[in-house]
Amino acid sequence: MTNIAVFASGTGSNAVNLVKAFNSGNRIHVALCLTDKENAPVIEKMKDLGVETIFFPRSVWKEEPQVILDILRSHDISVIALAGFLCFLSDEIVNAYEGKILNIHPSLLPAYGGKGMHGANVHKAVIEAGDLKSGATVHIVTSEIDAGPIVVQKEVAVLPDDTPESLEAKVHEVEYQAFPEAIMKIVASLTPPAIPKSVDDAWAEALGVPNNVPPIPKNDNINQTGPTSPTSLTGQTAPTGPTASISPTAPTSTTSMALTKEGMPPTYLVWSVIMTILCCTIPGIVAIINSAQVSSKFYQGDIEGASRASRNAEIWIIVSFVLGVISNTLYIPLALAGLF
Ligand code: GRF
Repeated sequence: MTNIAVFASGTGSNAVNLVKAFNSGNRIHVALCLTDKENAPVIEKMKDLGVETIFFPRSVWKEEPQVILDILRSHDISVIALAGFLCFLSDEIVNAYEGKILNIHPSLLPAYGGKGMHGANVHKAVIEAGDLKSGATVHIVTSEIDAGPIVVQKEVAVLPDDTPESLEAKVHEVEYQAFPEAIMKIVASLTPPAIPKSVDDAWAEALGVPNNVPPIPKNDNINQTGPTSPTSLTGQTAPTGPTASISPTAPTSTTSMALTKEGMPPTYLVWSVIMTILCCTIPGIVAIINSAQVSSKFYQGDIEGASRASRNAEIWIIVSFVLGVISNTLYIPLALAGLF
């Protein structure tokens, strides 16, 4: 489980959306909300959702960043999400969580970013400029405002009758997709790696039996390194921890192996195989193909593709099961009637 903190100053619809997206699962958990506004509506909303929420006045954010860092560490926070947070983050906090602080901005950065560009100001400027599209950007926070590497960007069309308010509502809708997606990417790229299991190990685990196959000899092309800082998907520095990377001499992919099983959607491989054997073969095989794609896509950093393959595998398992039940139900009475 990866704990994240949300920093927010306003209404907090993005903060609420993150809690709803993550807190019923077992991979990412919004464990803390910090605010710089004593009466911000986000406070009550987060408390209602059971998220610990603490107000710190601006003076603490500016002059005592160590107090903030202590609270983050005491909650084992790995990633910070700025969801409408209007207070400037001190260098101590940005450096301590380098590459692990994400901000959501209501425009297609680098357009309409920087000082003074927030909320209604952005949407007003987009409409006044006559732009045909706008959108939302999630980026890594650096010491320069709205200028860090972009992680996810989503567009919306700006229509002739749009007002700053209607545009804001449209942008909010894409923000609710963009922010969880970006957080999943960062969490997947930061988690200390697990060397993917061999097929034998996966079967042994699924069947609950020990795998007596002797360990595969160490491949010289795979470098195990110590507690250094691997480069994440975004080109930012990831947290410390052992890493595995494929050296340039590796025969196939040179993709970083910083992605891990943490955060990977279920593969349903065992169910796919069971359905293929016991129920309907063809949909079962389609389920197996999709199951196999979950981990390969995930380790390539294609989180969306992995989730899609996982969902498809689930659907084909159900199809195989239903067809299997139908055909067996028809077969038994016909066999009893002596027709087979
Ligand atoms: C969002 O539009 C976000 O892009 C910006 O501030 C707004 C916060 O909205 N940084 P909410 O408080 O999450 O509703």
